Amino acid sequence: MTLERLEEARRAFLSDLEQAGGDAGAVEEVRIRYAGRRSGMLQELTAVLKTLPNEEKRDYGRELNDLKKLIEEKLKEASGGASAGTAGRRRAAIDVTLPGRRPRRGAQHPVHLVRRRIEAIFLSMGYSVEDGPEIEDDWHNFEALNIPPDHPARDDQDTFYFTDGHVLRTHTSPVQARVMERQQPPIRIIVPGRVYRRDSDLRHSPMFHQIEGLLVDEGITFGHLKATLETFLHQLFVGVDIRFRPSYFPFTEPSAEVDISCIFCNGSGCGVCSRSGWIEILGSGMVDPRVFERVGVDPERYTGFAFGLGIDRVAMLLYGIPDLRLMFSGDQRLTRQFA
Ligand code: DAH
Repeated sequence: MTLERLEEARRAFLSDLEQAGGDAGAVEEVRIRYAGRRSGMLQELTAVLKTLPNEEKRDYGRELNDLKKLIEEKLKEASGGASAGTAGRRRAAIDVTLPGRRPRRGAQHPVHLVRRRIEAIFLSMGYSVEDGPEIEDDWHNFEALNIPPDHPARDDQDTFYFTDGHVLRTHTSPVQARVMERQQPPIRIIVPGRVYRRDSDLRHSPMFHQIEGLLVDEGITFGHLKATLETFLHQLFVGVDIRFRPSYFPFTEPSAEVDISCIFCNGSGCGVCSRSGWIEILGSGMVDPRVFERVGVDPERYTGFAFGLGIDRVAMLLYGIPDLRLMFSGDQRLTRQFA
């Protein structure tokens, strides 16, 4: 009787599977023997269907389907729900008593760390943190800051231009102008942010970070500038000497650049400070009255000082990072060290 063949096949399958006993290779053999596409038992039993007289076909077909389902289900169970093969073996090898894998801790980027340190120092002196656009118009990036059209800072070499006359801001100073346009003194702000210049080597990257500072009120003098920057730098670089050098910026008069004694050689001269013993840290000066006029602040009544420094440069110094471009490479071998 044909139905008996199905019953025999069922019993044989169950006993073979039991003998395989969860061994992935043996289970796979059973699968091939019974459910193999080419010459498995099910294949043969299906072929029989065509040869049967019509009245037997219905019962046989139903039983055959049940058998197929059973075989599929049992094979699936035996191979652990995954496809048979090495996966089954690996599953059996999991040792649940082993300690878990620790997720790797993230780290803050050195630029972020330095920015937060600088912000904390100025927040403690009563400054607030301001923000401005990175895509800037000509007025705020240049004109309002007393940078005339023929000034070298406008050279194509330095500035990224958009076709509509906007630029990627080349410094954070335009935010000074924006704040003074909308707010009358007293003003006491710092402005951290990204800036852009067409430049790339060990010490320059087309994108880098600056912090701008601005203080405007009645009766502000160069003495306030000096005391503020000395206080700031002594907190950031403990134990250094500080010197002010006369300099020039279009938006300040008088202007000064500020150096600290080299933190690598203590001022005796080394490769980092080019044998000078000093490292330039920031630019500063008394806000030029022409800037006040342009942004609508009364230069007869108010005076103020401003300064700007590169965050990335400070991070390189504080953490001894030799190549500025390393900071923006996304290489975790750098950032991991700050975890
Ligand atoms: N904007 C200058 C630069 O990018 C830095 C600077 C110098 C900012 C003097 C100032 C300043 O506010 O007074 O190089």
